[in-house]
Amino acid sequence: MSTVRVHYKIPFNRPCFAGNERQYIAAAIANGQISGDGEFSRRCHAFLEHELGVAKAFLTTSCTHALEMAALLLNIKPGDEVIVPAFTFVSTINAFVLRGARPVFVDIRPDTLNLDETRLERLITPRTKAIVPVHYAGVGCEMDAILAIAGRHGIPVVEDNAHGLLGRYKGRWLGTFGCLAAQSFHETKNFTCGEGGALLINDPRYVERAEILREKGTNRSQVFRGQADKYSWIDLGSSYLPSDLLAAFLMAQFEARDHIQAQRQRLWEFYAAHLRDWALRHNVILPSIPEHCEQSYHMFYMLMPSLAARQALIDHLKTRSILAVFHYLPLHLSVMGCRFGGRAGDCPVTESVSDRLVRLPFYIALSSADQARVVAAILECPAI
Ligand SMILES: Cc1ncc(COP(=O)(O)O)c(C=O)c1O
Repeated sequence: MSTVRVHYKIPFNRPCFAGNERQYIAAAIANGQISGDGEFSRRCHAFLEHELGVAKAFLTTSCTHALEMAALLLNIKPGDEVIVPAFTFVSTINAFVLRGARPVFVDIRPDTLNLDETRLERLITPRTKAIVPVHYAGVGCEMDAILAIAGRHGIPVVEDNAHGLLGRYKGRWLGTFGCLAAQSFHETKNFTCGEGGALLINDPRYVERAEILREKGTNRSQVFRGQADKYSWIDLGSSYLPSDLLAAFLMAQFEARDHIQAQRQRLWEFYAAHLRDWALRHNVILPSIPEHCEQSYHMFYMLMPSLAARQALIDHLKTRSILAVFHYLPLHLSVMGCRFGGRAGDCPVTESVSDRLVRLPFYIALSSADQARVVAAILECPAI
């Protein structure tokens, strides 16, 4: 079966090129090491550790794989329960289901679209082995409340911070609250290497085993450091480390963090300023950023008044060759979610938001003129 890719004058995303990607890839080739954990991987690890202040950062081949490592590190076993928001990407929970866990879906807050912390405690049972909040759009979950509940029950928190690198909650970086946190460097993210991720480790007890799990269950890294003579199979594991070519690309992006973040802030503020009045008039809700959160400027979304209004807007923008997209179908209503007992009405906020959310084109190469075209096209949408 073949699929046809439609080309839009203004696509939803274009991967970001920040400057030195080509030079750094050439340098990785010149270094003679393009497998994992070479010079550029070490520089990426150091960047994440120093910027965020985490005990250890490991690049991974994706955020999905960082979450799989978290599930292995927490020894998730068949019959364990893991609490996740119903409004998230499949990997947030699939990583744990792979180990045999049963997902327990919690609804989201209508303002930030993050896990609703007021609904969390009643879902905890003696089988609950992890809570996985997602900082949707890089706006922090209510971590004080979530950590207090998790702490009372002795349950580890793993942050799915796929969207949230360089966002903060009450002045503290997202990704530094849970014992573990997962980052994504997929091409839709603020910082990318095409496909990639990182596991951030805040509890140092997990560092040694994480290194082994990431290296196919062997102590290969210890051998490279001269701490052992021969490497051998000592634990579960898989191949979670990316090529140093990808790390070289990513390092160039990290170095351009101020530029990338300033561009993304400019794009976000332009949409917010130019759509505010229209949104008020048409019962459209723009993103809400609590005072105590500094967002990562990952995306710009709108909540339309209805599914029909959202579809009308997406169709209208298509006629202008602009691609806007929706996000996340409710996980509890997916084929897998239903198999685990999910039913319509379980998470009403998720169900409503999933019908109404639309994401606008958002990438740093989006010119001011093109962004103004997107806004003008929205303002002219006849069916809203
Ligand atoms: C919240 C969330 N978690 C995890 C992922 C998976 O990221 P990756 O593609 O790096 O595996 C995504 C993907 O966009 C996501 O939105």
